[in-house]
Amino acid sequence: MNHFSYRKRVLHAEDVPLSAIADAVGTPVYVYSTATLRRHFRVVTEAFGSHPHLVCYAMKANSTLAVLRLLAEEGSGFDIVSGGELARVKAAGGQPGKTVFAGVGKTADEMAQALSAGILFFNVESPEELELLDAVGRAQGKRAPFALRVNPNVDARTHRHISTGLKTSKFGVPFEDTVALYAKAKKMKGLQAVGVDCHIGSQITRTAPFKAALTKMAGLYQELRAQGHALQYLDIGGGLGITYTEETPPTPAEYARTAIAAAGNTGATLIFEPGRLLVGNAGVLVTRVLFRKKTPARQFVVVDAGMNDLMRPALYDAHHGLQPLVQRRGKEVEVDVVGPVCESTDVLARQRKLVLPNQGELYALMTAGAYGMSMASTYNSRPRPAEVLVDGDAWRVVRERESVEDLWRGERP
Ligand code: LLP
Repeated sequence: MNHFSYRKRVLHAEDVPLSAIADAVGTPVYVYSTATLRRHFRVVTEAFGSHPHLVCYAMKANSTLAVLRLLAEEGSGFDIVSGGELARVKAAGGQPGKTVFAGVGKTADEMAQALSAGILFFNVESPEELELLDAVGRAQGKRAPFALRVNPNVDARTHRHISTGLKTSKFGVPFEDTVALYAKAKKMKGLQAVGVDCHIGSQITRTAPFKAALTKMAGLYQELRAQGHALQYLDIGGGLGITYTEETPPTPAEYARTAIAAAGNTGATLIFEPGRLLVGNAGVLVTRVLFRKKTPARQFVVVDAGMNDLMRPALYDAHHGLQPLVQRRGKEVEVDVVGPVCESTDVLARQRKLVLPNQGELYALMTAGAYGMSMASTYNSRPRPAEVLVDGDAWRVVRERESVEDLWRGERP
Protein backbone atom coordinates (compact mmCIF):
# COMPACT_ATOMS: atom_id res chain seq x y z
CA MET A 1 0.00 0.00 0.00
CA ASN A 2 1.37 3.41 -0.90
CA HIS A 3 0.15 6.92 -1.62
CA PHE A 4 1.60 7.45 -5.11
CA SER A 5 -1.20 7.36 -7.67
CA TYR A 6 -2.49 8.94 -10.88
CA ARG A 7 -5.19 11.56 -10.77
CA LYS A 8 -6.34 12.62 -14.22
CA ARG A 9 -3.16 11.10 -15.70
CA VAL A 10 -0.88 13.06 -13.37
CA LEU A 11 1.21 11.13 -10.83
CA HIS A 12 0.69 12.43 -7.29
CA ALA A 13 2.38 11.85 -3.96
CA GLU A 14 -0.62 12.05 -1.64
CA ASP A 15 -2.31 15.29 -2.82
CA VAL A 16 0.72 16.85 -4.49
CA PRO A 17 1.54 16.47 -8.21
CA LEU A 18 5.12 15.22 -8.37
CA SER A 19 5.86 17.53 -11.28
CA ALA A 20 5.24 20.57 -9.02
CA ILE A 21 8.02 19.35 -6.74
CA ALA A 22 10.38 18.58 -9.62
CA ASP A 23 9.80 22.03 -11.13
CA ALA A 24 10.45 23.78 -7.82
CA VAL A 25 13.36 21.70 -6.48
CA GLY A 26 14.92 20.36 -9.66
CA THR A 27 15.86 16.78 -10.48
CA PRO A 28 16.90 14.17 -9.52
CA VAL A 29 14.87 14.37 -6.31
CA TYR A 30 13.72 11.72 -3.86
CA VAL A 31 10.13 12.21 -2.69
CA TYR A 32 8.65 10.43 0.34
CA SER A 33 5.07 10.10 1.57
CA THR A 34 4.32 10.76 5.23
CA ALA A 35 1.03 8.84 5.09
CA THR A 36 2.75 5.77 3.67
CA LEU A 37 5.51 5.83 6.28
CA ARG A 38 3.08 6.21 9.17
CA ARG A 39 0.73 3.57 7.79
CA HIS A 40 3.53 1.05 7.31
CA PHE A 41 4.81 1.49 10.83
CA ARG A 42 1.33 1.05 12.29
CA VAL A 43 0.51 -2.03 10.18
CA VAL A 44 3.80 -3.64 11.22
CA THR A 45 3.56 -2.95 14.94
CA GLU A 46 -0.15 -3.82 15.06
CA ALA A 47 0.60 -7.15 13.32
CA PHE A 48 2.22 -8.35 16.56
CA GLY A 49 -0.89 -7.37 18.53
CA SER A 50 -0.53 -7.66 22.28
CA HIS A 51 2.49 -9.96 22.02
CA PRO A 52 5.42 -8.19 23.71
CA HIS A 53 7.48 -6.71 20.90
CA LEU A 54 9.49 -3.73 19.74
CA VAL A 55 9.91 -2.64 16.12
CA CYS A 56 13.48 -1.39 15.61
CA TYR A 57 13.59 0.26 12.19
CA ALA A 58 16.77 -0.83 10.33
CA MET A 59 17.80 2.71 9.49
CA LYS A 60 20.46 1.72 6.96
CA ALA A 61 17.51 1.51 4.56
CA ASN A 62 16.95 5.27 4.81
CA SER A 63 18.68 7.33 7.46
CA THR A 64 17.39 10.78 6.51
CA LEU A 65 16.62 12.71 9.71
CA ALA A 66 13.06 13.59 8.73
CA VAL A 67 12.25 9.92 8.10
CA LEU A 68 13.80 8.94 11.43
CA ARG A 69 11.91 11.72 13.25
CA LEU A 70 8.61 10.55 11.83
CA LEU A 71 9.20 6.92 12.81
CA ALA A 72 10.44 7.96 16.27
CA GLU A 73 7.18 9.89 16.71
CA GLU A 74 5.30 6.70 15.86
CA GLY A 75 7.18 4.95 18.68
CA SER A 76 9.75 3.10 16.60
CA GLY A 77 13.05 1.89 17.96
CA PHE A 78 16.12 1.66 15.73
CA ASP A 79 18.57 -0.94 14.48
CA ILE A 80 21.93 0.76 13.92
CA VAL A 81 25.24 -0.42 12.49
CA SER A 82 27.62 2.46 13.24
CA GLY A 83 28.38 5.40 15.50
CA GLY A 84 27.17 7.63 12.68
CA GLU A 85 23.77 5.97 12.75
CA LEU A 86 23.60 6.39 16.55
CA ALA A 87 24.32 10.11 16.12
CA ARG A 88 21.48 10.32 13.60
CA VAL A 89 19.06 8.56 15.98
CA LYS A 90 19.88 11.15 18.64
CA ALA A 91 19.70 14.09 16.22
CA ALA A 92 16.28 12.94 15.05
CA GLY A 93 14.92 12.61 18.59
CA GLY A 94 14.93 8.79 18.67
CA GLN A 95 15.46 6.92 21.92
CA PRO A 96 18.80 5.16 22.48
CA GLY A 97 16.98 2.94 24.99
CA LYS A 98 15.01 1.48 22.07
CA THR A 99 18.10 1.01 19.89
CA VAL A 100 20.01 -2.17 19.05
CA PHE A 101 23.49 -2.11 17.53
CA ALA A 102 24.59 -4.76 14.98
CA GLY A 103 27.53 -5.08 12.58
CA VAL A 104 30.66 -7.23 12.27
CA GLY A 105 33.15 -4.38 12.72
CA LYS A 106 32.30 -2.12 15.64
CA THR A 107 35.19 -0.06 17.04
CA ALA A 108 35.88 0.44 20.76
CA ASP A 109 34.86 4.10 20.37
CA GLU A 110 31.54 3.21 18.78
CA MET A 111 30.86 0.67 21.54
CA ALA A 112 31.73 3.20 24.26
CA GLN A 113 29.45 5.86 22.76
CA ALA A 114 26.56 3.43 22.46
CA LEU A 115 27.04 2.11 25.99
CA SER A 116 27.14 5.65 27.45
CA ALA A 117 24.05 6.54 25.45
CA GLY A 118 22.23 3.63 27.10
CA ILE A 119 21.27 1.54 24.09
CA LEU A 120 18.98 -1.46 24.60
CA PHE A 121 21.63 -4.00 23.57
CA PHE A 122 24.53 -4.84 21.27
CA ASN A 123 24.21 -7.60 18.70
CA VAL A 124 27.66 -9.16 18.90
CA GLU A 125 29.00 -10.99 15.88
CA SER A 126 32.28 -12.67 16.97
CA PRO A 127 34.22 -13.93 20.03
CA GLU A 128 36.82 -11.15 19.67
CA GLU A 129 34.09 -8.53 19.53
CA LEU A 130 32.66 -10.01 22.74
CA GLU A 131 36.02 -9.54 24.46
CA LEU A 132 36.31 -5.94 23.32
CA LEU A 133 32.76 -5.19 24.49
CA ASP A 134 33.62 -6.71 27.88
CA ALA A 135 36.61 -4.36 28.15
CA VAL A 136 34.48 -1.36 27.17
CA GLY A 137 31.86 -2.34 29.75
CA ARG A 138 34.44 -2.72 32.54
CA ALA A 139 36.04 0.63 31.65
CA GLN A 140 32.66 2.30 32.25
CA GLY A 141 31.97 0.21 35.33
CA LYS A 142 28.95 -1.31 33.60
CA ARG A 143 27.77 -4.59 32.20
CA ALA A 144 27.18 -4.06 28.50
CA PRO A 145 23.87 -5.66 27.49
CA PHE A 146 24.30 -7.99 24.53
CA ALA A 147 22.78 -10.68 22.35
CA LEU A 148 24.90 -12.90 20.15
CA ARG A 149 23.98 -12.67 16.51
CA VAL A 150 23.64 -16.32 15.65
CA ASN A 151 23.94 -17.68 12.16
CA PRO A 152 21.16 -20.25 11.94
CA ASN A 153 22.48 -21.64 8.62
CA VAL A 154 19.20 -21.16 6.76
CA ASP A 155 18.98 -20.35 3.06
CA ALA A 156 16.87 -17.21 2.72
CA ARG A 157 16.55 -17.89 -1.03
CA THR A 158 17.11 -14.30 -2.00
CA HIS A 159 19.78 -12.51 -4.08
CA ARG A 160 23.23 -13.78 -3.07
CA HIS A 161 24.43 -10.25 -2.28
CA ILE A 162 21.75 -9.78 0.40
CA SER A 163 21.65 -13.30 1.87
CA THR A 164 23.31 -13.42 5.29
CA GLY A 165 22.22 -16.61 7.08
CA LEU A 166 24.38 -19.21 5.32
CA LYS A 167 27.45 -20.92 6.78
CA THR A 168 29.69 -19.09 4.32
CA SER A 169 28.44 -15.64 5.35
CA LYS A 170 30.58 -13.20 7.35
CA PHE A 171 27.67 -12.43 9.68
CA GLY A 172 26.99 -13.87 13.12
CA VAL A 173 28.58 -16.72 15.06
CA PRO A 174 28.04 -20.36 14.05
CA PHE A 175 24.98 -21.88 15.67
CA GLU A 176 27.11 -24.71 17.15
CA ASP A 177 29.42 -22.27 18.99
CA THR A 178 26.70 -20.26 20.69
CA VAL A 179 26.11 -22.12 23.93
CA ALA A 180 29.83 -22.20 24.79
CA LEU A 181 30.15 -18.47 24.05
CA TYR A 182 27.29 -17.53 26.37
CA ALA A 183 28.91 -19.68 29.09
CA LYS A 184 32.20 -17.85 28.56
CA ALA A 185 30.51 -14.43 28.56
CA LYS A 186 28.82 -15.21 31.86
CA LYS A 187 32.23 -15.11 33.53
CA MET A 188 33.10 -11.71 32.06
CA LYS A 189 32.36 -8.79 34.38
CA GLY A 190 31.68 -6.21 31.66
CA LEU A 191 28.91 -8.15 29.95
CA GLN A 192 25.26 -9.00 30.52
CA ALA A 193 23.51 -11.43 28.15
CA VAL A 194 19.98 -10.19 27.51
CA GLY A 195 18.92 -12.01 24.35
CA VAL A 196 19.71 -13.86 21.16
CA ASP A 197 19.61 -12.44 17.66
CA CYS A 198 19.53 -13.54 14.03
CA HIS A 199 19.01 -11.94 10.63
CA ILE A 200 19.02 -14.25 7.62
CA GLY A 201 18.89 -11.82 4.71
CA SER A 202 16.88 -9.18 2.94
CA GLN A 203 14.00 -9.04 0.43
CA ILE A 204 12.79 -12.47 1.55
CA THR A 205 9.48 -13.29 -0.10
CA ARG A 206 8.55 -16.63 1.51
CA THR A 207 7.58 -17.67 4.99
CA ALA A 208 9.54 -20.93 5.12
CA PRO A 209 13.06 -19.50 5.73
CA PHE A 210 11.75 -17.30 8.57
CA LYS A 211 9.92 -20.26 10.10
CA ALA A 212 13.02 -22.47 9.92
CA ALA A 213 15.32 -19.82 11.42
CA LEU A 214 12.96 -18.70 14.18
CA THR A 215 12.15 -22.25 15.25
CA LYS A 216 15.88 -22.88 15.69
CA MET A 217 16.36 -19.59 17.52
CA ALA A 218 13.42 -20.22 19.87
CA GLY A 219 14.93 -23.61 20.79
CA LEU A 220 18.28 -21.96 21.46
CA TYR A 221 16.65 -19.23 23.57
CA GLN A 222 14.98 -21.84 25.74
CA GLU A 223 18.13 -23.90 26.07
CA LEU A 224 20.08 -20.83 27.23
CA ARG A 225 17.36 -19.85 29.70
CA ALA A 226 17.43 -23.39 31.09
CA GLN A 227 21.18 -22.95 31.62
CA GLY A 228 20.53 -19.91 33.79
CA HIS A 229 21.05 -17.03 31.34
CA ALA A 230 18.48 -14.35 32.18
CA LEU A 231 17.50 -13.60 28.59
CA GLN A 232 14.50 -11.41 27.73
CA TYR A 233 14.80 -10.60 24.04
CA LEU A 234 14.55 -12.68 20.90
CA ASP A 235 15.71 -10.46 18.05
CA ILE A 236 14.28 -11.92 14.84
CA GLY A 237 16.07 -9.50 12.46
CA GLY A 238 14.47 -7.88 9.43
CA GLY A 239 14.33 -8.99 5.83
CA LEU A 240 10.65 -9.21 5.01
CA GLY A 241 10.40 -8.48 1.29
CA ILE A 242 8.22 -6.02 -0.62
CA THR A 243 6.73 -5.87 -4.12
CA TYR A 244 9.00 -4.31 -6.75
CA THR A 245 7.40 -6.12 -9.70
CA GLU A 246 5.44 -9.30 -9.20
CA GLU A 247 6.75 -10.58 -5.87
CA THR A 248 4.05 -11.68 -3.43
CA PRO A 249 5.78 -11.59 -0.03
CA PRO A 250 3.98 -12.61 3.16
CA THR A 251 1.97 -9.74 4.67
CA PRO A 252 3.20 -8.29 7.97
CA ALA A 253 0.27 -10.09 9.65
CA GLU A 254 1.30 -13.45 8.13
CA TYR A 255 4.90 -12.81 9.08
CA ALA A 256 3.98 -11.89 12.68
CA ARG A 257 1.80 -15.00 12.98
CA THR A 258 4.75 -17.15 11.86
CA ALA A 259 7.11 -15.43 14.30
CA ILE A 260 4.69 -15.74 17.22
CA ALA A 261 3.94 -19.39 16.37
CA ALA A 262 7.68 -20.17 16.33
CA ALA A 263 8.73 -18.08 19.33
CA GLY A 264 5.54 -17.21 21.18
CA ASN A 265 5.90 -19.70 23.99
CA THR A 266 9.43 -18.61 24.91
CA GLY A 267 8.07 -15.62 26.83
CA ALA A 268 10.64 -13.44 25.04
CA THR A 269 9.98 -9.90 23.87
CA LEU A 270 10.33 -10.06 20.08
CA ILE A 271 12.52 -7.44 18.44
CA PHE A 272 11.72 -7.01 14.74
CA GLU A 273 14.15 -5.03 12.54
CA PRO A 274 12.37 -4.16 9.29
CA GLY A 275 14.08 -1.70 6.94
CA ARG A 276 12.80 -2.03 3.39
CA LEU A 277 9.29 -2.95 4.53
CA LEU A 278 8.78 0.41 6.27
CA VAL A 279 10.31 2.77 3.73
CA GLY A 280 10.65 0.95 0.37
CA ASN A 281 7.45 1.96 -1.35
CA ALA A 282 7.14 5.18 0.64
CA GLY A 283 9.62 6.84 -1.74
CA VAL A 284 10.26 7.51 -5.43
CA LEU A 285 13.16 9.04 -7.34
CA VAL A 286 12.04 11.66 -9.85
CA THR A 287 14.27 12.21 -12.87
CA ARG A 288 14.14 14.23 -16.10
CA VAL A 289 14.85 12.97 -19.62
CA LEU A 290 17.96 14.55 -21.16
CA PHE A 291 18.30 12.78 -24.50
CA ARG A 292 16.99 9.92 -26.59
CA LYS A 293 19.57 8.03 -28.57
CA LYS A 294 19.05 5.22 -31.04
CA THR A 295 21.73 2.70 -31.95
CA PRO A 296 21.32 -0.30 -34.24
CA ALA A 297 20.74 -2.53 -31.18
CA ARG A 298 18.92 -0.33 -28.70
CA GLN A 299 16.73 2.69 -28.03
CA PHE A 300 18.33 4.52 -25.10
CA VAL A 301 16.72 7.16 -22.93
CA VAL A 302 19.33 9.17 -21.00
CA VAL A 303 18.01 10.68 -17.75
CA ASP A 304 19.58 12.97 -15.15
CA ALA A 305 19.59 10.36 -12.34
CA GLY A 306 22.38 7.81 -12.35
CA MET A 307 23.68 4.75 -10.56
CA ASN A 308 25.27 7.06 -7.99
CA ASP A 309 21.77 8.26 -7.00
CA LEU A 310 20.12 4.82 -7.06
CA MET A 311 22.64 1.99 -6.94
CA ARG A 312 20.31 -0.98 -6.68
CA PRO A 313 19.90 -1.77 -10.41
CA ALA A 314 23.68 -1.64 -11.01
CA LEU A 315 24.56 -3.54 -7.84
CA TYR A 316 21.89 -6.24 -7.68
CA ASP A 317 20.24 -6.13 -11.10
CA ALA A 318 17.27 -4.84 -9.14
CA HIS A 319 14.03 -3.86 -10.86
CA HIS A 320 12.37 -0.53 -10.10
CA GLY A 321 9.11 0.39 -11.81
CA LEU A 322 9.31 3.43 -14.08
CA GLN A 323 6.27 5.70 -14.39
CA PRO A 324 5.78 8.92 -16.33
CA LEU A 325 4.73 11.87 -14.19
CA VAL A 326 2.20 12.72 -16.87
CA GLN A 327 0.68 9.83 -18.81
CA ARG A 328 0.24 10.27 -22.52
CA ARG A 329 -0.97 7.97 -25.28
CA GLY A 330 1.27 6.67 -28.03
CA LYS A 331 2.98 3.62 -29.47
CA GLU A 332 5.12 1.75 -26.98
CA VAL A 333 8.75 0.98 -27.76
CA GLU A 334 11.37 -0.98 -25.87
CA VAL A 335 13.93 1.29 -24.21
CA ASP A 336 16.91 1.13 -21.89
CA VAL A 337 16.79 3.99 -19.40
CA VAL A 338 20.35 4.97 -18.52
CA GLY A 339 22.08 7.55 -16.36
CA PRO A 340 24.94 9.94 -17.12
CA VAL A 341 27.61 8.03 -15.14
CA CYS A 342 30.57 6.70 -17.11
CA GLU A 343 29.95 3.01 -16.40
CA SER A 344 28.22 0.41 -18.52
CA THR A 345 26.27 -0.75 -15.47
CA ASP A 346 24.60 2.67 -15.17
CA VAL A 347 21.28 1.32 -16.46
CA LEU A 348 18.32 2.22 -14.25
CA ALA A 349 15.68 0.31 -16.20
CA ARG A 350 16.48 -2.28 -18.86
CA GLN A 351 14.30 -3.26 -21.81
CA ARG A 352 11.13 -1.51 -20.67
CA LYS A 353 8.12 -0.92 -22.86
CA LEU A 354 7.28 2.79 -22.80
CA VAL A 355 5.70 5.46 -24.95
CA LEU A 356 8.95 6.99 -26.25
CA PRO A 357 9.74 9.76 -23.75
CA ASN A 358 10.26 13.32 -24.98
CA GLN A 359 13.24 15.41 -23.94
CA GLY A 360 12.47 17.22 -20.69
CA GLU A 361 9.73 14.82 -19.60
CA LEU A 362 9.70 13.61 -16.01
CA TYR A 363 9.67 10.01 -14.77
CA ALA A 364 9.55 8.37 -11.37
CA LEU A 365 11.59 5.34 -10.39
CA MET A 366 9.23 3.64 -8.02
CA THR A 367 9.82 1.86 -4.71
CA ALA A 368 13.04 3.79 -4.18
CA GLY A 369 12.56 4.74 -0.53
CA ALA A 370 14.79 1.93 0.79
CA TYR A 371 18.51 1.70 0.02
CA GLY A 372 18.17 4.60 -2.43
CA MET A 373 19.46 7.82 -0.88
CA SER A 374 21.21 5.93 1.93
CA MET A 375 23.43 4.19 -0.64
CA ALA A 376 23.86 7.18 -2.95
CA SER A 377 27.42 8.28 -3.70
CA THR A 378 29.06 11.26 -5.32
CA TYR A 379 30.84 9.22 -8.01
CA ASN A 380 31.68 11.31 -11.08
CA SER A 381 31.53 14.35 -8.74
CA ARG A 382 27.76 14.30 -8.91
CA PRO A 383 26.16 15.99 -5.89
CA ARG A 384 23.53 13.78 -4.30
CA PRO A 385 19.81 14.48 -4.88
CA ALA A 386 17.55 16.66 -2.77
CA GLU A 387 14.90 14.95 -0.65
CA VAL A 388 11.30 16.06 -0.15
CA LEU A 389 8.68 14.88 2.31
CA VAL A 390 5.03 15.19 1.32
CA ASP A 391 2.25 15.35 3.90
CA GLY A 392 -1.26 15.64 2.45
CA ASP A 393 -1.25 18.69 0.20
CA ALA A 394 1.91 20.13 1.79
CA TRP A 395 5.54 19.33 1.10
CA ARG A 396 8.95 20.46 2.25
CA VAL A 397 12.59 19.92 1.38
CA VAL A 398 14.04 17.71 4.11
CA ARG A 399 17.53 17.62 2.63
CA GLU A 400 18.92 20.24 0.31
CA ARG A 401 20.55 19.13 -2.87
CA GLU A 402 24.28 18.79 -2.23
CA SER A 403 26.44 21.47 -3.83
CA VAL A 404 29.71 20.92 -5.66
CA GLU A 405 31.45 22.84 -2.84
CA ASP A 406 30.02 20.30 -0.37
CA LEU A 407 31.83 17.61 -2.34
CA TRP A 408 35.28 19.03 -1.76
CA ARG A 409 34.84 20.19 1.83
CA GLY A 410 38.02 19.29 3.73
CA GLU A 411 40.12 18.80 0.61
CA ARG A 412 43.43 20.63 0.20
CA PRO A 413 44.50 21.20 -3.38
N1 LLP B 1 18.78 -6.20 10.46
C1 LLP B 1 20.05 -6.44 10.05
C2 LLP B 1 21.03 -6.96 11.01
C3 LLP B 1 20.41 -6.17 8.71
O1 LLP B 1 21.65 -6.41 8.32
C4 LLP B 1 19.44 -5.66 7.82
C5 LLP B 1 19.79 -5.37 6.43
C6 LLP B 1 18.14 -5.43 8.30
C7 LLP B 1 17.85 -5.70 9.62
C8 LLP B 1 17.06 -4.86 7.45
O2 LLP B 1 16.76 -5.67 6.36
P1 LLP B 1 15.47 -5.31 5.46
O3 LLP B 1 14.26 -5.42 6.36
O4 LLP B 1 15.64 -3.95 4.93
O5 LLP B 1 15.48 -6.33 4.39
N2 LLP B 1 21.23 -2.81 0.09
C9 LLP B 1 20.44 -4.00 -0.10
C10 LLP B 1 19.89 -4.55 1.20
C11 LLP B 1 20.96 -4.80 2.24
C12 LLP B 1 20.39 -5.23 3.56
C13 LLP B 1 21.43 -5.20 4.62
N3 LLP B 1 20.94 -5.56 5.93
C14 LLP B 1 19.34 -3.70 -1.10
O6 LLP B 1 19.27 -2.57 -1.60
O7 LLP B 1 18.54 -4.56 -1.44
